[in-house]
Formats: sequence, structure tokens, C-alpha cells
Amino acid sequence: MKILAPSILSADFTNLSQQIRLVEIAGADWIHCDIMDGHFVPNITFGPFIVEAVNRITNLPLDVHLMIESPELYINDFIQAGADYITVHVEEVIHLNRLINQIKELGAKAGVVINPSTPVQSIKDIAEYIDLLLIMTVNPGFGGQKFIPNSIRRIHEAVELREKFRAKFLIEVDGGINNQNIRTLADAGVDVFVAGASIFKADNISAATTELKNIISSK
Ligand code: DX5
Ligand code: ZN
Repeated sequence: MKILAPSILSADFTNLSQQIRLVEIAGADWIHCDIMDGHFVPNITFGPFIVEAVNRITNLPLDVHLMIESPELYINDFIQAGADYITVHVEEVIHLNRLINQIKELGAKAGVVINPSTPVQSIKDIAEYIDLLLIMTVNPGFGGQKFIPNSIRRIHEAVELREKFRAKFLIEVDGGINNQNIRTLADAGVDVFVAGASIFKADNISAATTELKNIISSK
């Protein structure tokens, strides 16, 4: 199954519950929450307090993408707040195997994220332990950026790596996903599609959500 995960980074936070309900009714599968601390990336967003509020708004699984320093200090707070999936950047975590185990022991699904310049092969020895591999298709930090073209090659590499190691992780993409490129990404083997601006900055949020969902669901 192909999963659509709207990113609330581009949502109108004065109307967050209404916006989340719109995408939920229109076919969203997960809600993607971008956590930024102003250190790992040059932008600041929100923390567990907002994730907890989002969890009360929706029954959809929450996909929490941590773009923060020392994520191990906050894992418990985000899981308590209702995170179902937690992804941590390999560029930030030294004891990645330990952290992935901790996330799972606390009851959430665990994933790793790689920046556009981080080799796909760098996740080789964690591949069999993760539930999710998030391949950044823009440099993290901001919504509304342009998709980086060599991401397609990186997705092919991830698919091969998953087969080679008989791993089971889902492949997720994040950044610059829209109705022009999502079909190609689905064909390349992507399982989970994050979309921020192309949904929440659209004139019609519901129609944009349904359109993306229909494209990934059709053969
Ligand atoms: C960027 C975030 C993304 C962002 C994607 O650092 O990780 O999740 O919301 O936004 P769009 O789809 O607008 O590129
Ligand atoms: Zn994200």
C-alpha cells in the first residue's frame, strides 16, 4: 500500500484542527510532523506539546521527523505525545543502533533519515532493524523547496539495498513532492510520500490531497 503523509509544516496553524480534518477526509494516511530546533537545521518549529494536540485532533498515525540535536533526550516525550513513527537523522546520531532499539522498546516504530548528500549505503548496517528509511529529497529545514533530481537514483539504491539485506523498511520521501513527480517516485518504489506545500498551500487542500492519493494508488 502507498501511504500519503501531509506535512503540517505548511498548514495554517490558526486553523490546524480544521486543516488536519480536511486532509484526513480527503485520503491522507499519516500526518507528518517536522520538529526543528534551530541547531540541526536553521529553522525552529514545534515540540511534543503540539504533537500531543495533533494526536487529539486525528486518529491517523503520527510520523514524527526529528531535525534536532541530541534526539535521544526527547524520544520519550514524543512517544508520550502520541508519535507512532519516529525518524532520526543518521548525520546526528552516534549510537544509532542503541537509539533505534530505544524507540522500539518505548513502543513506536523507528526509522532513520538521510540528507541529500548522505550516501544511501550509510544505512546498510542498520537496515534490518528499522521500520522506515526517510530519504530527504530537499535539504531539510523549510517547506516549499525544489525536489533534488538525483533522489530518484538514491531511491533505486535503497530498493536494492533493502532486497540485498532482506530488510523490511518502508521507503519514504520528503521535500518538493507534487502532482508532477509523485508518479515517478511511486514507480521507483517509494512507499510513503510526504507533501507539505503541494497540499497545504494549494487553493483547494482537499482536492490536492485526493489528487496525490489517487495518483499513488493507481497502477
Ligand atoms: C523539510 C521537511 C519537510 C517539509 C516538506 O525539512 O522535513 O517535511 O515539510 O515540505 P514540502 O513538501 O513543501 O517540500
Ligand atoms: Zn519532514
